[in-house]
Amino acid sequence: MSPDAKAKQLIVALDVSTQEKATELVRTLKAQVGYFKIGLQLFTAAGPTVVRKILQEGVQVFLDLKFHDIPNTVTQAALEAARLGAHMMTLHSLGGEVMMKQTRETLQEYSLREGWPCPKLLGVTILTSIDPQMLSSLGIAHPLDQEVLRLARSAQEAGLDGIVSSPRELPLLRQERPKGFLLVTPGIRSGETKGDDQRRTMTASEALAAGADFLVVGRPIVQSQDPVQAVQTLFGEIPIG
Ligand code: C5P
Repeated sequence: MSPDAKAKQLIVALDVSTQEKATELVRTLKAQVGYFKIGLQLFTAAGPTVVRKILQEGVQVFLDLKFHDIPNTVTQAALEAARLGAHMMTLHSLGGEVMMKQTRETLQEYSLREGWPCPKLLGVTILTSIDPQMLSSLGIAHPLDQEVLRLARSAQEAGLDGIVSSPRELPLLRQERPKGFLLVTPGIRSGETKGDDQRRTMTASEALAAGADFLVVGRPIVQSQDPVQAVQTLFGEIPIG
């Protein structure tokens, strides 16, 4: 696979504060990149309009608002995200199986009715900024990887399309995922980049080799003086297979 094909497995996190900056990044990177992620910062700053604006660039949009609320609220929020045109979205697996299942079913019914492809629904497991000490201080007694596996099983039971986890859990998750169940991983850092607030990190090449379907990368690309070069550096680390 060429580095370009691998870059299609890249999701760039548009963690910036204005629509103008986000649009500029999309225009600069869209030839290389599979999906663009709109998360809490950009959505809070620029609102739903930014989703429509980025979609007008002809790219795939991942709306990462990590919904975590009662089933009815999450279901209705996911429906609004689908109406906006998001291709992929997240909710928190810790919100429970009923919430996940109800959201999945509602999105499916909506897509069938409208004749649109159903957005991909991903369950966030344990954030990549959480380490085992933090997990235990949150009162979760299981080892971290077992908790991620438990949440992944629950997301799968609820009919989700995949999960978000740290790259460190990929070998374990890969063993039991059903065909087509997506493993999406942030926490990607190259050898020389500092980890910021991310704790459980890997390089892009390690994460792809460990079985990731998509890599989410924010700061190493969007804070770079040369985002195109940053993508190349990230994927240049991958030997061409
Ligand atoms: O800048 P950085 O590469 O750390 O950005 C990672 C992105 O992935 C952020 O937008 C963050 O919200 C998101 N994310 C994460 N950990 C998760 C789920 C999403 O870091 N478990």
